[in-house]
Amino acid sequence: MHKILAITDIHLRSAGRKIIGLDPLAQFQKALAHALEIHPDAQHLIIMGDLTHSGHPEEFQMVKDAIAQYPIPITLMLGNHDRRDNFTSTFPEITMTSSGHLQTRIDLGDDVLLCLDTLDGPPYPQYHHVGNLCPERLDWLCEQLKTCAGKRVSLFMHHPPHNIGLPGMDCIKLKNSDDLFAITAKHPEIRHFFAGHVHRTISGHTHGLGFSMFKSTCHQMPMAMESNDPSLSVAEPAAYGIILFDTHSIIAHTEDFEIAQQASGPALDALPD
Ligand SMILES: [Fe+2]
Ligand SMILES: [Fe+2]
Repeated sequence: MHKILAITDIHLRSAGRKIIGLDPLAQFQKALAHALEIHPDAQHLIIMGDLTHSGHPEEFQMVKDAIAQYPIPITLMLGNHDRRDNFTSTFPEITMTSSGHLQTRIDLGDDVLLCLDTLDGPPYPQYHHVGNLCPERLDWLCEQLKTCAGKRVSLFMHHPPHNIGLPGMDCIKLKNSDDLFAITAKHPEIRHFFAGHVHRTISGHTHGLGFSMFKSTCHQMPMAMESNDPSLSVAEPAAYGIILFDTHSIIAHTEDFEIAQQASGPALDALPD
């Protein structure tokens, strides 16, 4: 059994600026502290994009400072709110692909986790939030898959590649999902994908793959199935994900760390008749 943590959409802002009254840095720090207290045995932490709210260098520096002493190995990913040039200037020690994208492979026994960079750009037009996997990034995926025979592969992407029934988010999903699904259709070793971007807990099955999405550590997307607005936000309890890779199963839990309580004693047996 392997255990990893998944935190997504931390949206850090500089100068103490908030998002619908929430402090993104304080929220992120709460999530990090809670996850470390409860899951010190986690083998890895993946932070799944929208590291920053505006892509500014000082926001990336806040990310770097916040994770500097964290004892669990961390893989960072990019989202639509991030900027690749400012990321690389803040994290020059992190290796990018030969095409200059932030894509990473994590091996955990017979499981391979492939983290893809779905940030569309440069250029980065304002209010452009769709995702993209250009031919170079898809080539990297295909190269990795050449050495995944006999393994079980999970993909991690900031943008979901399919519609999820929330019109406001469906219009800013991965724009070339057909290209991705053409690859996954040829590789049955890919079993599951994980996404962020939506700021909600969602799971299901599409194109032969299971999928799981996690809440933000800060602001959440409301249940708005009739709205075309991708910017809707509510202060519902925040969460992070806990993913277990068992011999037979990939298991995704979410932990609402702001309202989670530790067990304090027997419950069922203590109920009155
Ligand atoms: Fe986000
Ligand atoms: Fe996003």
